[in-house]
Amino acid sequence: MKGIILAGGSGTRLSPSTDSMNKHLLAVYDKPMIYYPLSVLMLGGIEDIMIITTEEDKSRFEELLGDGSSLGISIAYEEQVEPNGIAEALIIAEDFIGKDDVTLILGDNIFYGQGFTDLFRQAIKNHEYATVFGYRVKDPERFGVVEFDNQQKVISIEEKPDSPKSDFAVTGLYIYDHQAVNMAKTLNFSGRGELEITDINKKYLEQDQLKVQLLGRGFAWIDAGTHDALFEASEFVKNIQDRQGFKLACLEEIAYYLGHISRDELYKRGQSMHKNDYGQYMMEIANRKHTNQYWDTLDHHPALGLVQNE
Ligand code: TTP
Repeated sequence: MKGIILAGGSGTRLSPSTDSMNKHLLAVYDKPMIYYPLSVLMLGGIEDIMIITTEEDKSRFEELLGDGSSLGISIAYEEQVEPNGIAEALIIAEDFIGKDDVTLILGDNIFYGQGFTDLFRQAIKNHEYATVFGYRVKDPERFGVVEFDNQQKVISIEEKPDSPKSDFAVTGLYIYDHQAVNMAKTLNFSGRGELEITDINKKYLEQDQLKVQLLGRGFAWIDAGTHDALFEASEFVKNIQDRQGFKLACLEEIAYYLGHISRDELYKRGQSMHKNDYGQYMMEIANRKHTNQYWDTLDHHPALGLVQNE
């Protein structure tokens, strides 16, 4: 399974904050936005990742995350010359995807909730053709809307409909088989001038190959693309972290649980930024005594196949 994070776009809704800065490098509370979708792919066990961004921002992401080796993963970078739509990512990443399956996640999407890692890993494991994730929202008309039967079989999918057929939005996390690349190549630009990911999903639906996995009320899904949503996302992250003493999307912590880096490496990484809270947290995690209860609360139980790196 390959992973793609889409971190281009124009970010006009966040202007002027994004006039000279890529949206996905803005902080969501205490770390760059892109850490959150990257943490999702890592927790899903995906180790081969491509970040697609604009020509001028590519080097900034490289500076931040390098080739991924310090996290025990591989990160490649590719450019999207114009914000031609989410589905264009599949064409840009054609060689990278090859004959593999691919998970595409939008760089401004934040997922959180108990059991999310398990649910996502199961979705990857049971995946056949195309799996999207549905989330109940108050304002479905702003999103791609999915209608499904009681077997979670999709009946219809519509982009920003005037009269939504359900309250379930399609989130920015998509699992596809290799057919998606050829499907993307046959798409026409939509009325708003984009290659629409909803049109890919519709093609899978026409072939009776689209599955929706619902995220229940215990999950949080935030698309941090507006000033209000960005502020709310920061507040959300701060609240959870202050309450629980765990950080969301600390990439080095996840790499440690996955067995990619040792306790010593985690500690040293923390030490190198000991003046800030993020660094101190890494040192603290490296020093913590792990118990079964600890794993349970973290939702990263060794039963999921994650190695405890004592
Ligand atoms: P959007 O929020 O639809 O668009 P945007 O980021 O350009 O912002 P705005 O609407 O404020 O102008 O994009 C969703 C995500 O997909 C976001 O993380 C950016 C990314 N994206 C690309 O990387 N390339 C694209 O061509 C598009 C349309 C989006």
